[in-house]
Amino acid sequence: MSQRKKIVLIGAGNIGGELAALAARSELGDVWLFDIPDKEGVAKGKALDLEQNGAVLGYDAHIRGTSNWDDLTGADVAIVTAGVPRKPGMSRDDLLSVNLKIIRGVAEQLKSRCPNAFVIVVSNPLDAMVYAMRQGTGFPAERVVGMAGVLDSARFQLFLAREAGVSIKDVRAMVLGGHGDTMVPVTSYCTINGVPVSQLIAADKLAAIIDRTRNGGAEVVKLMGTSAFYAPASSAIAMAKAYLHDEKRLIPCAAFLTGQYGLKDLYIGVPVIIGGKGVEKIIEVALNEAEKAMLAASAAAVRELIEASARL
Ligand code: APR
Repeated sequence: MSQRKKIVLIGAGNIGGELAALAARSELGDVWLFDIPDKEGVAKGKALDLEQNGAVLGYDAHIRGTSNWDDLTGADVAIVTAGVPRKPGMSRDDLLSVNLKIIRGVAEQLKSRCPNAFVIVVSNPLDAMVYAMRQGTGFPAERVVGMAGVLDSARFQLFLAREAGVSIKDVRAMVLGGHGDTMVPVTSYCTINGVPVSQLIAADKLAAIIDRTRNGGAEVVKLMGTSAFYAPASSAIAMAKAYLHDEKRLIPCAAFLTGQYGLKDLYIGVPVIIGGKGVEKIIEVALNEAEKAMLAASAAAVRELIEASARL
């Protein structure tokens, strides 16, 4: 008989709590919410609240909180949100030194306790954090990914749908590159149910939407005083589900490049296929000259952060 999957969430803050809620509701498996000893009560409290929620909503999942690494042994999936989020006026890069230390510590624990896990990193600055996670765990690159592209694409899709006056369900769009100001919304692949978006949205409006997408995270931080958590959590859960259910979804994620797009030895957002083996394929799509230049600039910004990490 097959066993329930074990999903461990490192960081029981805003995103961690929503991740637990979504994982439980979609019955992906049993959930452990992990946080530092000072926040163990929060992790346990959220877990209990969510188990009780199962009685109302009718889902069947064990959800537990802990600050003991032993409880996470043998996880199938680990989603990492440990770290600090942005405050208004901060860039994701401003979080580098504090979150790098945290991610290195988490990687060391995952390496020994969860050697077979599919690891999804959410902590920022994303591309540098997922690079550090792979370095720290030594896991094969197909089992260490970063969540950014699904979220950035969702933001892009929403703004396009609102501008075109169509259902969000009919918009397909993709954002590649690093998870920062240099991200690359790929308009040449944006369609509204197959209709190129350029036929439905004027160029100046499209440019404004691209700009808003690039600042999509900051817009929420400015309003709330902290980072977004609903859409980030849903995006990471979509990736976990693609892995656990071997869905072979083609989605943009921060993946380790080994020459694709002329780039190597860095993590950056590209279209990948996620299935039961993790990142089963990195898809190289044709980009126009402007998009190629934007991706190169984004890669240079990510490379700078990785080099800065090496000095810390
Ligand atoms: N191990 C486990 N958890 C940790 C550790 C650690 N070493 N260090 C910090 N944490 C926990 C914090 O105690 C906190 O509960 O991580 C949690 C982060 O939660 P929030 O502060 O609510 O932040 P959140 O909005 O969830 O964002 C987390 O994801 O999108 C990124 O920029 C965001 O880097 C941030 C991360």
